[in-house]
Amino acid sequence: MSHLIAPSILSADFSNLRNDIDMINKSEADWFHLDIMDGVFVPNISFGFPVIEQINKYAKKPLDVHLMIVDPDRYFEKLKNTGADIISVHYEAVTHLHRSVSAIKSLGLKAGVVLNPHTNIILLEDIINELELILLMSVNPGYGGQKFIPNTYSKISRLKELILKKNSKALIEIDGGVSLGNFKKLIDAGADVLVAGNAVFRSKNPTDAISKLKKI
Ligand code: DX5
Ligand code: ZN
Repeated sequence: MSHLIAPSILSADFSNLRNDIDMINKSEADWFHLDIMDGVFVPNISFGFPVIEQINKYAKKPLDVHLMIVDPDRYFEKLKNTGADIISVHYEAVTHLHRSVSAIKSLGLKAGVVLNPHTNIILLEDIINELELILLMSVNPGYGGQKFIPNTYSKISRLKELILKKNSKALIEIDGGVSLGNFKKLIDAGADVLVAGNAVFRSKNPTDAISKLKKI
């Protein structure tokens, strides 16, 4: 499978969101990445259901929802009803991870788990066969435009080994500081999906930036 690109709406122009949604629809991007922050799990608040509903109204590609919130199970059903296709919860934010993952899957959605930069991939060994997606944070979650943490490369390789060893179908997604300068190295290490916020929306030509990120 060729790698996927998921532009992060967090870096879009919220005063003209429709424009950026249409740009992603027409581009070579594969998913819409939606960052939901509650100001408790992470030190920032992003957007919630009214905005997700509007994105879903016009988006023609899957919605990849990254929940940076405590007690995320409260919102799975509402997220399904507002168009989520993939829901990822933070390992660090839930107590009963197996229960959360099962709840997402029982709604017919794809389930992902997110690891913060300090969290070891080995903690997923006993749940990896239940997961469709593993999102490795390559910055500390909370903000777009942060500096990439280089330890991510070795983390991807170790996770890839574990996925192969366990015969899991999980995709590896990388989120934070992805750029035209490092995306090839991330793919080489074993990444399947790249989230890109600033690399897309702060570039002069976002469509072109997406296209460049798709080429290896
Ligand atoms: C950070 C978010 C990211 C962010 C990525 O907490 O999870 O998705 O939008 O932005 P860039 O690509 O600019 O680092
Ligand atoms: Zn994210």
